[in-house]
Amino acid sequence: MPQTFDPATERADLPFFPMARAAGCPFDPPPEARAGQQEDPLRRVRLWDGSTPWLVTGHAEQRTLLADPRVSSDPDRPGYPSSVPRDPGGSSISFILMDDPEHARLRRMVTAPFAIKRVRALRPAVQKIVDGLIDDMLAGPKPADLVEAFALPVPSLVICELLGVPYTDHGFFQSKSSTIIKRDAAPEQRFAASQALSAYLDALMGDKLDRPGDDLLSGLAERVRAGELTRGEAAQMGVLLLIAGHETTANMIALGTLALLEHPDQLAILRETDDRAVVASAVEELLRYLNITHNGRRRVALEDIAIAGRLIRAGEGVILANDVGNRDPRVFPEPDRLDLRRDARRHVAFGFGVHQCLGQPLARLELEVVYGTLYRRVPTLRLATELERVPFKHDGSVYGVYELPVTW
Ligand code: HEM
Repeated sequence: MPQTFDPATERADLPFFPMARAAGCPFDPPPEARAGQQEDPLRRVRLWDGSTPWLVTGHAEQRTLLADPRVSSDPDRPGYPSSVPRDPGGSSISFILMDDPEHARLRRMVTAPFAIKRVRALRPAVQKIVDGLIDDMLAGPKPADLVEAFALPVPSLVICELLGVPYTDHGFFQSKSSTIIKRDAAPEQRFAASQALSAYLDALMGDKLDRPGDDLLSGLAERVRAGELTRGEAAQMGVLLLIAGHETTANMIALGTLALLEHPDQLAILRETDDRAVVASAVEELLRYLNITHNGRRRVALEDIAIAGRLIRAGEGVILANDVGNRDPRVFPEPDRLDLRRDARRHVAFGFGVHQCLGQPLARLELEVVYGTLYRRVPTLRLATELERVPFKHDGSVYGVYELPVTW
C-alpha cells in the first residue's frame, strides 16, 4: 500500500526547500537535498509559501515522472510548486510553462532551427566569435572578469544572431533576464523586468512583421501573418528563447571554467587534446556535475500517481531535483568526482520528457567550442582571487558565478 502524507500534522517538521549548499563545496548540491536518495527517493519539503510539495531525488523516479503525461508544467494550476510569487498580470514564459497539446503546437514552430544538423552548420561562426573574444580578452587588462569578457558575450552573440535581436541591446536584455531569474528579487522588480522584456520583444516582432529578415523571429512573424500564431504568443516565445539562450550557457562557461581550474588534472585533459570526441564527452560530464538549473523541474500531478512506494495525489506539487538526480550513485559511480572521461550521457541536466531542453544542440556546440578552445589558447589561465571570494549565484534559479576574476 503506497504511503500518503498528512500536511496538517507533518508540515512543521519538513525541511525548507531550496536548501543551502555546504560551505566550501560550491559544486555539490546541498547535502540535505540528497538525504535519503537511495532508500526514500520521494519526500516532502516546505516552500516559501508554506506549501508542501514532493521532492524527488532519485534519477530513475525523476525520468519516470518527467515522461508522465499525468504531471503538468502549468503554473496556474492549483498545487503547482512555484519558486517565487506569481505575477498578478499573469505573464508566463511561453511553452516551457504549458502542457500538450498547446506546448507541442508552439514548440514545433521553433524546432527546425535547433535541429542537430542545422546547429552543427553554425560551428565556424561560433568558433569565430569565441576566437575573437579571446583575442580581445588577451589584448585587454589583467586580471579580467571572465563572465563579462567572455562567458556572457559568447551565448548572447550567438542567440542574437540566430533570433535576429540586435546585440547592441545586450545590456538591456541581460539585466532584465538576470532579474527575472533571481529568486529573491522583489516581486515588483521581477514583474517589471518581465514586462519590459515582453514589450521589447513585441516591438521587435513589429519590426520583423514590417521588414522580415533571415532569422528565427522573422520566421515567427511569417506565422503571425499566416494566422498560425498571435503576435503576443510570438513575442513570448522570443522572450523564452532569448533568456534560455544566453543565461544558461553563460553560467556553464564561467562555472565550468572555475570547476576545471579547481581540478587541474581534469583541465589538463582539455588543454592537451584536439580530439572532438574527448571534448564532447567532457561537456556531458560538466553538464552532469554542475547541473546549473538547480531549483528543480517543477510540476503538479493531474491524477493520483503511485511511485517508489509513495502516492502522489492529484493536485500535489512535485519538484524533480535534477542536480541531485545527476549525483545518483546507482547511475553514476562515485558521483561527486568530476571525471571528464566517464560516460555521463544519461544526465538530466537538460531535463527529460516533452520539455527536455530545446536548445541542447546549440548549448552543446557552444560548450564544445569554448571548452575545446579557451584552455588551449590560454594555457596559463588561472583564478585571480581565492575561491572563497568568488560570488556564487545562490539566489538565482540558474546557478553560476556573478564574476570570475582570472589572469594568465
Ligand atoms: C547549458 C545550457 C542549458 C541548460 C543546462 C538548459 C537546461 C534546460 C532544462 C533543464 C530545461 C527543461 C525545463 C523543464 O523541464 O522544466 C530546458 C528547457 C528549455 N531550454 Fe534549455 N538549457 C540550456 C541551454 C539552452 C539554449 C542555448 C536554448 C536556446 C534557446 C534553450 C532553450 C530551451 C527551451 C526553449 C526550453 C523549453 C522546452 C520545452 O518546454 O519544451 N536552452 N533547458
